[in-house]
Formats: sequence, structure tokens, C-alpha cells
Amino acid sequence: MSFVEYSEFIQEGDVVIIFLGHDSMMPIKVESGAQTQTRYGAIRHSTDLIGQRFGSKVTCSKGGWVYVLHPTPELWTVNLPHRTQILYTTDIANITLMLDLKPGSVVCESGTGSGSLSHAILRTIAPSGHLHTVEFHAQRAEKAAQEFRDHKVGHLVTVRNQDVCKDGFGVVGVADAVFLDIPSPWEAIIHAKKVFKRRGGRLCSFSPCIEQVQRTCETLLDHGFEEICTLEVLQRVHDVRSVTLPLPDFGPEEGGTDSTKITSGPAPEEVPSAANPSYSSVTCRTATPPREMAGHTGYLTFATKPRD
Ligand SMILES: C[S@@+](CC[C@H](N)C(=O)[O-])C[C@H]1O[C@@H](n2cnc3c(N)ncnc32)[C@H](O)[C@@H]1O
Repeated sequence: MSFVEYSEFIQEGDVVIIFLGHDSMMPIKVESGAQTQTRYGAIRHSTDLIGQRFGSKVTCSKGGWVYVLHPTPELWTVNLPHRTQILYTTDIANITLMLDLKPGSVVCESGTGSGSLSHAILRTIAPSGHLHTVEFHAQRAEKAAQEFRDHKVGHLVTVRNQDVCKDGFGVVGVADAVFLDIPSPWEAIIHAKKVFKRRGGRLCSFSPCIEQVQRTCETLLDHGFEEICTLEVLQRVHDVRSVTLPLPDFGPEEGGTDSTKITSGPAPEEVPSAANPSYSSVTCRTATPPREMAGHTGYLTFATKPRD
């Protein structure tokens, strides 16, 4: 199993995602002889996991069942152990697109944090790209490096434990793209400028506050970056469910009949008719936005480093 390649069968040492429901998943490391407790009972790694196909339905000791999923960066983002605030898929998708990341890209990132973005970058730049990620918190840097090894992507990434604002990224002239998720990104821009290849590249900085964005944009301009733009990505999902809607009463039709005609829209389950005019509502399946939705996460500032 690797986060950048699909395997068919579960092996000892793999990370699998136990799917108990859409809002209830957990990552586990498969170890021969080990057991994992769930609300449906125990999962025995040796008999229930090792040798089974990814995607299998596994029956737990109390009779309930779970799915055992292959890990992906998207599943990891919603299941990883949080050591910091993390980036979520909505922002990650835009970052990947706007930085023009693809297999073979070389990326410099800081801070590594919990590695949520790093895993998505690694999947995109594999098999021949490289990620240089800088994290000044020693334990976070070590934990991220361990996770990259466990997830069989260690060969694609170098983790450096240093302050990016003082010591830079540890490389020069190699990067196609730079990503910053640190409190004072403007202090790292002078270092970011040095890591790009001679033919330039794209930079992105994520900041929750507009004051951080202002300072970052000013510094990018001072250093000759072009095409500077800031955007915010908001996701609005829709739930599919049954709703009952009241039917309007337009009064008697011309010609004197009392029936209501429904000429378009989904097929109603209950339709008022001349034979049964007492119904005054219709139930149908429809998509509705939730009353509450995730709002502001942060601003994404993009810029282009021109050719030398
Ligand atoms: C919000 S987290 C990054 C989360 C990450 N993007 C993710 O998706 O998991 C910010 C990280 O930057 C690190 N950091 C802050 N300032 C830094 C600096 N000057 N040099 C290196 N790392 C820094 C912090 O220790 C923290 O782990």
C-alpha cells in the first residue's frame, strides 16, 4: 500500500481506513496479531484484514460490519491526527490547480503542520517529483517524516526542521512552486524567490486574516512577483432529501373545474385532483443547501515569479 499507488490486497504494515459511516472513519496500521475495537465489535487484523481486498466488507466480532478502504490524501485529510490547523480539500484542490502541479513538479512548502496538504501534493507530483517541506517545530517535523515513511512516500519528500523565515528551504534554484502556510509569510518571500528555477514558477500563500494578505501582497510586489491575486474558496454542498411542499391554490380554473394542474417538475407522490381535491401538499425528492455551512477558512494569495 502506498498513498500514491493503488494496491489490491491488504498487507501487514499497511494503513487502512475503517469506514463505519460517512461521518465515522478511523485510520489504523495493520499489524499481525493485533485487534482494533469498534462499536460493532473487534476487527482481528490477521484474519479480517491481512490478505483481504481493499474495499472489502468486514464483519466485526459483534456481528456489525465495516468497509476497509484504501487510503487516499482526501481520506487522510478527514482522518489524520491533528497536530495543527490543517488545510481541507476545497482549498487543496484550488492550490493544486493554480500552482499547476503535475507529475514531476518540484515543490517547496512551509510549514508542514499535520501533513494534510503535503499528502495531496505528493500524490500529484509522483512518481518523479519532489517535495521539500520545512517545519520549525521539531516533534511535528519528526512525526510528519515518520508518517511519510509509513505511507510509502518517503522517497518523494525531504522534511527539514528549521525556521523558513531565517534559514529558508534548504535548496536553491529547484522549485516549480512554493506554498506557504505560516503566520508571517512575508518574512519567507525573500527565501521563496531563491528556490525557484530560473524560468520562474508559481507561489501560493494561505492566511486566515486580511492583514496578513496585505503584507504578503506588498512584499510580493517589492520582490518583482507578478499576476498577484487573492481569492477565498467557499464550498456549498446540497443534501438530497424528501420535502413536503404546500400546493398553491389559484382558485377555480377558467371553465369552472376545480382541479390543479402540475405541468413540470418531479413526479409528485400525491396529486390533488377533481376526484380528491382535499390534498394541499406534494412530497418530492429535492436537493437543499444545509442551514449551516463551513465558512471562511483563509485567503489564498497566488503570484508568479517571472523569468530571471
Ligand atoms: C497551520 S500549520 C500548517 C498546516 C499544513 N498546511 C497542513 O495542511 O497540515 C502551520 C505550521 O507552520 C509551522 N511554522 C510556523 N512558522 C514557521 C516558520 N517560520 N518556519 C517553519 N515552520 C513554521 C508551525 O509550527 C505549524 O506546524
